[in-house]
Amino acid sequence: MQNDIKKIAVFTSGGDAPGMNACIRAVVRTALYHGRRVSGIMRGYAGMIEGEIEEMSARSVSNIIHRGGTVLKSARSENFRTAEGMEHAYYNLKAARIDGVVAIGGDGTFKGAIEFSNKYDIPFIGIPGTIDNDMFGTDFTIGFDTAQNTVIEAVDKIRDTAHAHDRLFFIEVMGRDAGFIALHTGIAGGAEAILIPETATDIEKLIKELEYGWRRKKSSSIVLVAEGDEAGGAFQIAEMVKSKISSKYDIRVTVLGHIQRGGSPTCNDRVLASRLGVASVEGLLEGRKNMMVGIVNNKIQFTNFNEITKSKYNINKNLMRIADILSY
Ligand code: F6P
Repeated sequence: MQNDIKKIAVFTSGGDAPGMNACIRAVVRTALYHGRRVSGIMRGYAGMIEGEIEEMSARSVSNIIHRGGTVLKSARSENFRTAEGMEHAYYNLKAARIDGVVAIGGDGTFKGAIEFSNKYDIPFIGIPGTIDNDMFGTDFTIGFDTAQNTVIEAVDKIRDTAHAHDRLFFIEVMGRDAGFIALHTGIAGGAEAILIPETATDIEKLIKELEYGWRRKKSSSIVLVAEGDEAGGAFQIAEMVKSKISSKYDIRVTVLGHIQRGGSPTCNDRVLASRLGVASVEGLLEGRKNMMVGIVNNKIQFTNFNEITKSKYNINKNLMRIADILSY
């Protein structure tokens, strides 16, 4: 154990994700368990620059394990990318006597941490927290499971009304430029088609498939569209299909939006957040720095920030094949 790490700070950054609170709780309590002091930084890098750093206790994280959002709040800070912003952040961390930092967020958060660690001597450990699941170095990110379950609840409800009115629905889900949410919820929601940025979207082929379904008495259909699909969002794709399709589908569009980011975290997200939170603090105390802690094949794994931001976590193409077979 590193005895020079006496005080740890934790913050959340980028888009919030359900399970971030469970993770903050795990970081705070693990630090205290190991006899270290711990502070929370408000609003990510923005709060670091402005010196919003508060000492935390075991009680400051009571009754938050089940809550969505983040008690430390979150922000995306452009200012942190400037030399001046980073210098302020460093000065504030030093003034608060912080010896190591745990950053919970997505790859933008870790890019900031790399730039900071190239210049300054405070070690960072990252924890993947984003609903998008698009991080190399972990099989799952905190928040992905909850977001999927939120989507599925919505898709099931849309399926009821789609069936009642013989309609074709295009449902757009989040994911930025990745299709994990669309792919998983498309399979779990029994979608007729799934459009994701990782595979080429062919509108003519989609129309043929929908028409083939119609001829086989599929009176309603659901197409899951990842917001980052290269053919466009759900509204644009629905327009393209509408202008060319010959079957009599009545078309509707639903964009699920930010409901995917909120809500009480699932059991899986709470367990993941707890495991990663404990591992992050113990990693820092073992002398690790500038690495992200993830879970690969159900085991804790540390990967360098540089590798995380340069590599891509690819979707499992076999899941697309499964979706195709089952949408028959
Ligand atoms: O990264 C999480 C995410 O929810 C993406 O899926 C989405 O593209 C983006 O954040 C939305 O960001 P904002 O909340 O800033 O609109």
